[in-house]
Amino acid sequence: MHTHILPEKLPNFAEKFGYGDFIHLVHHKPGFARMMKGEKFFREIEANCWDPDLRIAEYEQHGTDAQVVCTVPVMFSYWAKPADCLELSRFLNDHIAGLAADYPKRYLGLGTIPMQDARLAIKELQRCKEIGLLGVQIGSNINDKNLSEPEFFPIFEACQELGMAVFVHPWNMMGFHSMEKYWLPWLVGMPAETSRAICSMIFSGVFERLPGLRVNFAHAGGAFLPTLGRVEHGYRCRPDLVAIDNDKPPSHYLGKFWVDCITHDIKMLKFILDLVGPNRVTLGSDYPFPLGDLTIGKFIEESDLPAKQIQAIFRDNTLAWLGLAE
Ligand code: CO
Repeated sequence: MHTHILPEKLPNFAEKFGYGDFIHLVHHKPGFARMMKGEKFFREIEANCWDPDLRIAEYEQHGTDAQVVCTVPVMFSYWAKPADCLELSRFLNDHIAGLAADYPKRYLGLGTIPMQDARLAIKELQRCKEIGLLGVQIGSNINDKNLSEPEFFPIFEACQELGMAVFVHPWNMMGFHSMEKYWLPWLVGMPAETSRAICSMIFSGVFERLPGLRVNFAHAGGAFLPTLGRVEHGYRCRPDLVAIDNDKPPSHYLGKFWVDCITHDIKMLKFILDLVGPNRVTLGSDYPFPLGDLTIGKFIEESDLPAKQIQAIFRDNTLAWLGLAE
């Protein structure tokens, strides 16, 4: 339920809109492309980032039947003018919806919405539902604003109302420019970002006020679950700082949201299952990117977890998160 995809060809939005470091693709040799952020090289991608049949051939080797796909977070472009971000989002969403329609047994889709403008975000959220997407992927912060900000609440409310699942993915990592060496934005910044998102949603009362909202957090919730003891203690020792908008402790929300299983470590995964419960961990891979689990759950299959638990992670829990459970 956590895989990324791009259209093979992207319009040159920077040229079209006349500003901004929108991502464009340079196909410099067969099967390879450079993602360019303006003039700056961002990441090399391969055909499995855009070719649906090649993806199927690859993921079948690991016993996967279907992927939930969403865009690459760098595409969110929340920094852009809202109308331009809407246009970009519509382009990406139409691509993913088309894929899900062409391969109904193979791909399920999540959209992207212009979070910097709640009115346009809700408008595109509604359209996402109409074109068959099952939810949306959003960033862990919106232009450095936390998900606790009241301006985002109507978007979450609309997700609950429409039954659209939410996938929160780290991006725009805090401290990025002060720790670029050693890939620290990905290794340190991303887990911190996801914890920032979970704490923001708990402390501001999003889960309290929207009990029907189905949210899944990337990378097993990042740093949140491993540091829950500290967060819980913080809530108890300084309620004047922490419990100002919601008087329930963070631990109250364990089991109320989902996390993916991308831990690369069975001991950590068992600890997380213990915390959030057997029905709240879903099979994610971060395919096709190298920091993901590219053997797609092999470490879980080879573990001593009961078969029933493995099936829940591999299938049932994702269906429940997406609202597809029978
Ligand atoms: Co990812």
